[in-house]
Amino acid sequence: MRSFPTSRRAVAVLAAALLVGGVTACGNSDTGGGSGGDKKIVLGFSQVGAESGWRTANTTSIKESAAAAGIDLKFDDAQQKQENQIKAIRNFIQQKVDVIAFSPVVESGWDTVLKEAKDAKIPVILTDRAVDSADKSLYKTFLGSDFVKEGKAAGDWLVENTKDATGQVNIVQLEGTTGSAPANDRTKGFAEAIAANPKLKIIASQSGDFKRADGKQVMEQFLKANPKIDVLFAQNDDMGLGAIEAITAAGKVPGKDIKIITVDAVKDGMQALADGKFNFIAECNPLLGPQLMELVKKVKAGETVPERIETKETTFTQDTAKAALPDRKY
Ligand code: AHR
Repeated sequence: MRSFPTSRRAVAVLAAALLVGGVTACGNSDTGGGSGGDKKIVLGFSQVGAESGWRTANTTSIKESAAAAGIDLKFDDAQQKQENQIKAIRNFIQQKVDVIAFSPVVESGWDTVLKEAKDAKIPVILTDRAVDSADKSLYKTFLGSDFVKEGKAAGDWLVENTKDATGQVNIVQLEGTTGSAPANDRTKGFAEAIAANPKLKIIASQSGDFKRADGKQVMEQFLKANPKIDVLFAQNDDMGLGAIEAITAAGKVPGKDIKIITVDAVKDGMQALADGKFNFIAECNPLLGPQLMELVKKVKAGETVPERIETKETTFTQDTAKAALPDRKY
């Protein structure tokens, strides 16, 4: 039997090696390396912070939905600072992410950075909170609640439940983060609704920054300065829960001596409502993740999306909270 000369044997070994290498390379391109057709979408998301139970539920929803949708999420927590959000958005632009989404901590001051994203041809989606930019071409869509409606629902309940009041009804208000869309809009909606009954008077109103500790501290001040408080409107559950501690420490019974209305309907808030410590909650739904990921895919594909997508929400009384609590997801 004729054997190959050494040089021909070497060529045969090399050819076999190339064949194996070629198969491997083909295998890689089949899983997405070659054409880039099934490359993951990269989403840069700038979150407000971790100020409340609502925010924690919102963050979980976004992270879980991105993973389920196969989207590569670059998540940044701005710790409730606008400058951190601007920095994060600029980083996303530098990294050339496919889509940017963010929940703006305050309403104003976004035009410059949004213009930078637009110039870099990166579509932006607003989620949860809006910006007050006059130029609507700076973002593709806004997905979130109608905060004016939430404030109005809170006020309407109060009007309905104070119909028989004989004297002035003293209300104190714990506002959310100063300059934020939910604080601005809930204040507006509530004021508009209670205007229906001239007996309803807001005697003090201050920010508790949507946080439990701040809600407690501001409520302590309200109680010291005002001997007669009939109603507290806390613009989220966490501030209301903090206020319960202050009210109890002052020897008053939350939900009875002082009626408490809040917004959100997270589990802790719903529990306080079912226990009779809160009197009414206007829901604000944090589970925006699945809808957001659908929008991300659409804007990445260049599809047109509606400029406003409003979250569906309801309200809860003490009785409906008891019924809803066992199935509450957040
Ligand atoms: O933007 C939504 C609001 O922000 C929620 O009502 C509040 O709890 C959160 O911190």
